[in-house]
Amino acid sequence: MSNADTILVTGGLGYIGSHVVLELMEEGHSVVVFDNGSNASRDVIDSVSRLAAGKGRVDLFEGDITEPAQMDKVFQEYSAISTVIHCAGLKSVAESEREPDLYRAVNVTGTSHLLSAMERAGVKHFIFSSSATVYGNSAILPMLETAPLSPQSQYGKNKVEIEKNLHAWQKKNGGIVVVLRYFNPIGAHKSGLLGDRPKKEAANLLPAILETVSGKRPELTIYGGYNTPDGTGIRDYIHVVDLARGHLQALKYEPDNDGVYIFNLGLGKGYSTQQVVDAFIQETGLTIKQRRGQRREGDVDACYADNTRALQQLNWKPEYQLNDMLSHAWLSHKSSLM
Ligand SMILES: NC(=O)c1ccc[n+]([C@@H]2O[C@H](COP(=O)([O-])OP(=O)(O)OC[C@H]3O[C@@H](n4cnc5c(N)ncnc54)[C@H](O)[C@@H]3O)[C@@H](O)[C@H]2O)c1
Repeated sequence: MSNADTILVTGGLGYIGSHVVLELMEEGHSVVVFDNGSNASRDVIDSVSRLAAGKGRVDLFEGDITEPAQMDKVFQEYSAISTVIHCAGLKSVAESEREPDLYRAVNVTGTSHLLSAMERAGVKHFIFSSSATVYGNSAILPMLETAPLSPQSQYGKNKVEIEKNLHAWQKKNGGIVVVLRYFNPIGAHKSGLLGDRPKKEAANLLPAILETVSGKRPELTIYGGYNTPDGTGIRDYIHVVDLARGHLQALKYEPDNDGVYIFNLGLGKGYSTQQVVDAFIQETGLTIKQRRGQRREGDVDACYADNTRALQQLNWKPEYQLNDMLSHAWLSHKSSLM
């Protein structure tokens, strides 16, 4: 691949990364996916190539962000990389409490290796998958980007530490760093060919619902004990394709000055876990065996975005609503069984 303006997407085989790769290809970009395949399948490359139908192009570079030499190698092999979109990482709040050292090694140290390799290669445009977990339990909803950071989990603490490192890196190197704080991405590309298909046990709500309807789990545990009207946690669910399009807008973003720019990517509305489960049942006509479980450690009561900054400055606008997210997730699940 020798085109100018190649985009490196770490974690590009994963749930969010794969949807980002497709959006990039549809706009004609050349993409290199850097992934160790630990939580996703290589088949994603065939799916995005098929969906992009001749637009853009994609190569897969199998590597691990915890291995500095592999990071250097990808920049040497693809000297036209101009931007890095960093989606690789470990993402389970619960697992981060059990395995804090592993989470820090992959998420924080892995990102530092990537940033050092970028520095050596002279690449200064970075878009980072951060998370609304950085906010913790804020008294003020919706969450603004300026809200105090108070992560409740090791995973959230990793994201805060990475964001801090990004400020230091940008100060030293210049360039544009865009931090995208995702709220709760669900749904899938409307073709059904991509989706949230983790190799590890699902920790997020939608994969857990899908595992229950397909009989992989005997019942769905809906965590309760939160300080909300129905006792289940309230979150801001955003369609993964809208989220992926947020990355395209971030890529096009040309602020007057170099710096670190932070944006919430969320729908700006909150739904409780119980409301999502009920809406899924209504959308699909399925039944779900459910029980109430205890509140999860590290989880906040309610979290939804003030997305005004992204709407105004990135010129981003989410198109999909909750029913689209659920029907597309269901379609993706059915396609994965075929
Ligand atoms: N899905 C969510 O709900 C959510 C919410 C907020 C933020 N995020 C963040 O977005 C990013 C992507 O999340 P996702 O949902 O697509 O997760 P995912 O697990 O589907 O994708 C992560 C990808 O990274 C790869 N990977 C993991 N460790 C790696 C390593 N050491 N080296 C190279 N590749 C590695 C995996 O194989 C996978 O393809 C993560 O940083 C996550 O923290 C996700």
